[in-house]
Amino acid sequence: MAKSVVTPWEVSGNVDYDRLVKEFGVSKIDEKLLERIRKHAGELHFMLRRKIFFAHRDLKWLLDEYDKGNKFFLYTGRSPSGPVHLGHLLPWIFTKWLQDKFGVELWFQFPDEEKFLFKQGLSYEQAQKYLFENMLDVIALGFDSKKTHFLVDTKNANLMYGEACKVAKKITFSMVKSSFGLNEQSNLGQIFYTSMQAVPAFLPPVLKGKEIPCIIPHAVDQDPHFRLTRDILPKLGYYKPASIQCSFLPPLTGSEGKMSSSESIKGILSTDSPADVKNKINKYAFSGGQATVEEHRKRGGDCTVDVPFQYLKYLFEESDKKLNEIEKDYSSGKMLTGDMKKYTIEKINNFLSEHQKRREKAKDKIPEFLLKI
Ligand code: TRP
Repeated sequence: MAKSVVTPWEVSGNVDYDRLVKEFGVSKIDEKLLERIRKHAGELHFMLRRKIFFAHRDLKWLLDEYDKGNKFFLYTGRSPSGPVHLGHLLPWIFTKWLQDKFGVELWFQFPDEEKFLFKQGLSYEQAQKYLFENMLDVIALGFDSKKTHFLVDTKNANLMYGEACKVAKKITFSMVKSSFGLNEQSNLGQIFYTSMQAVPAFLPPVLKGKEIPCIIPHAVDQDPHFRLTRDILPKLGYYKPASIQCSFLPPLTGSEGKMSSSESIKGILSTDSPADVKNKINKYAFSGGQATVEEHRKRGGDCTVDVPFQYLKYLFEESDKKLNEIEKDYSSGKMLTGDMKKYTIEKINNFLSEHQKRREKAKDKIPEFLLKI
């Protein structure tokens, strides 16, 4: 098996999360921390119960501060480079839950220059088009506009650039090279970029003139950015941001890498029609079932590699009881691949039909979310 690669700009191979925990130096979320979150939130989100959010930095510190009355803010983001798919929605759905349960502000960054700088063939104008499209998906998830601020790198440059320069002055080219795999051929924008991604982790304290703890929910591939951010912020007089990190929604074709909208077989997009979803799941979703019904009845299916089952687990079956039943029935051969796919298609389509209605309504709401300073 090829060794997996996980950087902010590439995720490939069969991701070994235990190895990442060691290599990145993050901590696993243990039962004690889960209990503390449960105590505050009144319940545990299924993404915590199922260890989809599995790792963190300084979560204990963040909760200690919260207990002392020092509320945190949330920071996450999306670099517009294409349409939003189900894998993108996963950490945002969880972020919305945190916002609701803790009643805190969210700063949502749209680095609309990032993918332009990093992706061959993506024009600046295309990225701008996706910027507004992607905002609709974020708004559609129901974030509270009074507590949510969209920061757009090129539009809020007046606020951000000076702060980014303070970060950049503390980072050498050789640090960025080793953290991100950049080299002498990398363009200048790429070399500077991580300093822009650091800014929202301390912009609220800058604007409000007081220290405020920050926690960043993100997929584990973004950790190299925040490792650097954490090194630098104390030198500028700010707290290190905490983080809570999730694994990747598997791509349709199996367990390797992550869902992506730029691969030839695209992931399931937030704008897909019921027929698109049905077709993608039936045609492409990797199945853990056996080759024939007879064999399946005899030997059962393998949920650990079955993509429809994984989608239920990661996003669409909130009930543990129901998920366990499905797991049991599929593994024993009682439930067939066709049934698994049918159930998953229905669940996804129910979600998307609501999401798409809210997405339509979001078109008038963008100004409410844009940071105006
Ligand atoms: N770099 C992220 C992307 O490629 C976007 C991003 C900016 C982000 N700030 C973030 C993601 C904070 C998670 C948390 O989409």
